[in-house]
Amino acid sequence: MKILLDERELRQGVQRLAAEVNRHYDGAPLTIIGVLTGSVVLLADLIRLLEMPLRVGVVQASSYRGGTEAGELSIQADFMPDIEARHVLLVDDIFDTGNTLVEVVKLVEALQPASVATLVLLRKTGRQRVSYEPDFVGFDIPDEFVVGYGLDYADAYRNLNYLAALEPEDLDRKF
Ligand code: IMP
Ligand code: MG
Repeated sequence: MKILLDERELRQGVQRLAAEVNRHYDGAPLTIIGVLTGSVVLLADLIRLLEMPLRVGVVQASSYRGGTEAGELSIQADFMPDIEARHVLLVDDIFDTGNTLVEVVKLVEALQPASVATLVLLRKTGRQRVSYEPDFVGFDIPDEFVVGYGLDYADAYRNLNYLAALEPEDLDRKF
């Protein structure tokens, strides 16, 4: 594995994102919705740096069926809090093709929030298949499959405190 962002760089990126979000909402109450499972580490670090009155909810979106290629997208929104007339910030780990975030934004917009914005830790260069762009982006990274800081390969590596790109020999490992 090749380290792309170490613990210190990730921390600085999250601090930068939090500062932007604090400035943007300027004390207005906010509902953060994390897209499970990849956003859990970011969510935990980010919310502790936010200064407005905050509610936190989650939705689950799964598209990766074990490998590095996306399968069909499914969204499970049973645990989403009531967001009607509230400012909502959707938080996800990575903006790859963009399909996941676009679908979750649609779902949230249908519930008539006051506003919907999106934040991602990572955006992969040259992969997007949608015209939508996230409002807050931590880092632009090259088109490589990455793990750590919440991101997984076949459900492994989410607990790494750095972000690493998988190399071909890593893909064959069994857990
Ligand atoms: P999208 O719908 O193609 O934008 O994919 C978004 C989801 O796919 C992310 O929330 C991740 O869970 C997963 N994903 C995309 N690229 C990577 C990666 O490089 N490593 C791990 N997961 C990824
Ligand atoms: Mg995800």
